[in-house]
Amino acid sequence: MKKQVVLYKKLSPLLMARLHEHTEVTLIDNLNPEGLAQLREALPRAHGLLGASLKLDAELLDLAPNLEAIASVSVGVDNYDIDYLTERRILLSNTPDVLTETTADTGFALILATARRVVELANMVRSGQWKRNIGPAHFGTDVHGKTLGIIGMGRIGEALAQRGHFGFGMPVIYHSHSAKPAVEQRFNAQYRSLPELLQQADFICLTLPLTAETEGLIGAEEFALMRPESIFINISRGKVVDEAALIEALRAGQIRGAGLDVFEREPLDPDSPLLTLNNVVATPHMGSATHETREAMATCAVDNLLMALAGKRPKNLVNASAWQG
Ligand code: DGY
Repeated sequence: MKKQVVLYKKLSPLLMARLHEHTEVTLIDNLNPEGLAQLREALPRAHGLLGASLKLDAELLDLAPNLEAIASVSVGVDNYDIDYLTERRILLSNTPDVLTETTADTGFALILATARRVVELANMVRSGQWKRNIGPAHFGTDVHGKTLGIIGMGRIGEALAQRGHFGFGMPVIYHSHSAKPAVEQRFNAQYRSLPELLQQADFICLTLPLTAETEGLIGAEEFALMRPESIFINISRGKVVDEAALIEALRAGQIRGAGLDVFEREPLDPDSPLLTLNNVVATPHMGSATHETREAMATCAVDNLLMALAGKRPKNLVNASAWQG
């Protein structure tokens, strides 16, 4: 008998066909209250789950006694209680690698947009306010040649370093839980303590995963170390930053601006003070959001799920100790 899969994300026809070939599929195509009720109803028969952007806590998972595997269509796994999944021997997989370059492109888009005030000036043109040549009041700041500071030197951090070093001639400094000699060699990057990086970088880019250790890592004390010329970029997770402290730092002119793709609460409240600040470029958690990359991520998740349900070790297994072999 085919195993039961509950999808809480729509897939392309090609991927749907692959899943249908091997499994019985229930699709929850919207995570509104009605969709969540359908999910709860479907969980008792699920062997596999595939989706993203849903906090799957123990209360929900306890509705799924037959669950063998969850394939997350994301690289971040902060929506899952990994210890609990491991205890229940539920295999959790994610989608690293395929989104690295696209997410680094987003990081660079935010660096450029914030430094060169692209959104603010484009809005000025669109609203008919461009009446004469712009002057210093509208000038931005250079990106090329400035110091790029990367916090979290994983795959996405490396891809940012590559762009900064080869594309924009930027000296690269980084902070990470351990030094990365190969990265230092490739991009002439230099390791710094966190306070040193915050004091020295022109662009401070967060690429860390959200974990118990990184939650709230950047707060008032850290913003106080940054310079009035620095630009803060977050493409990791909103909760790595104390958002109230960020707003305060922006208002007080402690930093020049911020490019933010992630927020403490998403979607961002339209009344957020962040949206009243011209020196903030805010985007809707779109790090990996291109047609090509989202399809690659979904393909990777389907591969992981089908492997797990076939009793094989999924390529991108997150909780290796849940694997019994
Ligand atoms: C990821 O893959 O983790 C992206 O941030 C989307 O959630």
